[in-house]
Amino acid sequence: MPSERRPLIAGNWKMNGLVADGMALAGDVARRYREAKSPAFDMLVCPPFTLIGKVAEAVAGSGVAVGGQDCHRDAKGAHTGDVSAAMLKDLGCRFVIVGHSERRTNHGESDADVRAKAEAALAAGLAVIICIGETEAERDGGRTLEVVRTQLAGSLPEVGDAAAVVIAYEPVWAIGTGRTPTNAEVQEVHALIRRELTGRLGADVANGIRILYGGSMKPSNAKELLALPDVDGGLIGGASLKGSDFWAIGESCL
Ligand code: 13P
Repeated sequence: MPSERRPLIAGNWKMNGLVADGMALAGDVARRYREAKSPAFDMLVCPPFTLIGKVAEAVAGSGVAVGGQDCHRDAKGAHTGDVSAAMLKDLGCRFVIVGHSERRTNHGESDADVRAKAEAALAAGLAVIICIGETEAERDGGRTLEVVRTQLAGSLPEVGDAAAVVIAYEPVWAIGTGRTPTNAEVQEVHALIRRELTGRLGADVANGIRILYGGSMKPSNAKELLALPDVDGGLIGGASLKGSDFWAIGESCL
């Protein structure tokens, strides 16, 4: 984790939390971040849409950022049930996650869909976290690097501020399973992502882009993962729902 990239510890709450839970968790995270006084990492929480407004108010002034878990590719229009990037921004979001494997699987989102959403996010002034990662069958078939390269190439925005892009490498088989790749396997994929970004955007931009690891990151494995040279933070699901665990992961950056 070289010093030119400030680590980003991001919590993806997924479809969890009613108002009382979300407020308690957001308040806890905000208090810890505020009391830590200039922590050496950025902290982000991505609640479900229903909680974003309230969570943004709860963390206001603490330094903790708020993000959405998805956005529509269009700025507005006849899209029942969807939410635009501008709407997220309006509620106080600074980030949005796009292309999470759960959306790729459950909603059939393609790389082209993910790219369109990423471009919409940048156009609205949000930073975008683009998720990519192989399935277990793809890893077992020795196709990890090829799959990651293809997803990255197809999902990266072609317009917009590349410096506002964050990549999250999330092996699908590691999400919510308690299993993780070895440190060497994680670094191999992150280094590949950095090389691909360099080829596309040039070294100056690529060296500033944060590449997060996600998939069963928890306090007990965070330190070694976050110490890898091309791992610049984490995208954390289950462990982000408990303030003390989420905070312990953040402290692993120090
Ligand atoms: P877990 O941390 O629960 O494995 O989830 C990871 C994830 O999908 C974050 O986006």
